Amino acid sequence: MPKSSVSTIGSFLGQTVTLSGWAYNFRSSGKIFFLQFRDGTGRIQVVYSKSQLSEDQWAALESLKMESSVTITGVVKQDDRAPSGYEIDGAAFSIIQLAPDDYPISKKDHGPDFLLDHRHLWLRSERQWAIQRVRDTIIHATYDFMREEGFIKFDSPILTPNACEGTTELFEMDYFEEAKAYLSQSGQLYLEAGIMSFGRVFDFGPVFRAEKSKTRRHLTEFWMMDAEAAFVEHEENMQTQEALVVRIVQDVLAKNRGELALLERDVSALEKIQAPFVHLTHKDAVVRLRELGSDIGERDDLGADDETLLTKLYDRPIFVEKYPSEVKAFYMKRDPVETDRVLGNDLLAPEGYGEIIGGSQREDDYEILKQRIIDHGLPLEPFAWYLDLRKYGSVPHAGFGYGLERIVGWICGTQHIRETIPFPRLINRLTP
Ligand code: 4AD
Ligand code: MG
Repeated sequence: MPKSSVSTIGSFLGQTVTLSGWAYNFRSSGKIFFLQFRDGTGRIQVVYSKSQLSEDQWAALESLKMESSVTITGVVKQDDRAPSGYEIDGAAFSIIQLAPDDYPISKKDHGPDFLLDHRHLWLRSERQWAIQRVRDTIIHATYDFMREEGFIKFDSPILTPNACEGTTELFEMDYFEEAKAYLSQSGQLYLEAGIMSFGRVFDFGPVFRAEKSKTRRHLTEFWMMDAEAAFVEHEENMQTQEALVVRIVQDVLAKNRGELALLERDVSALEKIQAPFVHLTHKDAVVRLRELGSDIGERDDLGADDETLLTKLYDRPIFVEKYPSEVKAFYMKRDPVETDRVLGNDLLAPEGYGEIIGGSQREDDYEILKQRIIDHGLPLEPFAWYLDLRKYGSVPHAGFGYGLERIVGWICGTQHIRETIPFPRLINRLTP
């Protein structure tokens, strides 16, 4: 027999259940007490009548304060008006811990700073609950997909001696007496070592960028899934990204309809996320953007506003390919036809969300890669091991990295990335 919970309450119809959780709201007429109860798996209303409860238990109910922890007992009834479809006819009640009468988060509108200061409590709110549950589905969908595609989980280090994605956004720290360490910006370079042993690998963990920008898309600590595969080139690399994103959206649509409804997400927009995605070269993207009024230069990177403009043109994600080499990382392989462009892509999410994935084929020639490191003004010594990978059995290979919070934000339709991670780290926020 499954353990009863709000999420499985339907299988206990007509039966008496006992559940422990929290009181998130209540009101009383003096004779009938309506308790909004949540147990982590969901929310349900418990209705008590004074005539059916002992005096002590009724007194406990009347003393109740928001977010107290409680145990309820009652009979499960169908209720078509309730979002869960059920209601509990209360038979017994007890308080585990009575909260004081000053729970900071009320129904009235709080500003974002107030809510972020109370993030440890805000996480209990319905929207936040829904977002984190969608995040969990996305994480699981990713693991499932990667395993099915033959990738093994290969954990990259967080403390590193060198930069992966450029030196301006590095968190630096003292590493014992003499050395400096940097918090990883992406596990990619280590995955490139991994594929020479395992063929296809992925990592999934926190990465760090000292982003000075205060935007709705940037965190200083966020979760990245990097994937890397040997004998895979640019086109196939994009196909994997496309299939992964389609799979993630499908799993969320299959498992989180209730959460998406709570978030008032337009589900029809997610239902349109099907292969094939749109492909634009950077060159064509610039032409389109200029027609739309952007002042982007021919060899400029796309700004956030440019990405937003482009994504409004299509209802599917967009691959922007073959960026000018000077706006991308040193490790990207050059396009053999247009040698001043790279065999790389960004993947932009629709509805204005913009970049969710960055990927590329990697430079696999020892001498060329060495020269790129020098050209980018990077020191050779910390990259000696990375160059070794091109010395001993180099192969064509490619990979990509997704930003988990960017994907959660897009799928949930949040305004700001700070709601998509349990405890956001921003340029001006390190607490709670
Ligand atoms: O495009 P990026 O910088 O690519 C890399 O780091 C590659 N090494 C990945 C790889 O090829 N294995 O970052 C990848 C993704 C971006 O597309 C974006 O979704 C996310 O990481 N991202 C951020 N998310 C939140 N806050 C930030 N400051 C982010 N910077 C990048
Ligand atoms: Mg990028």
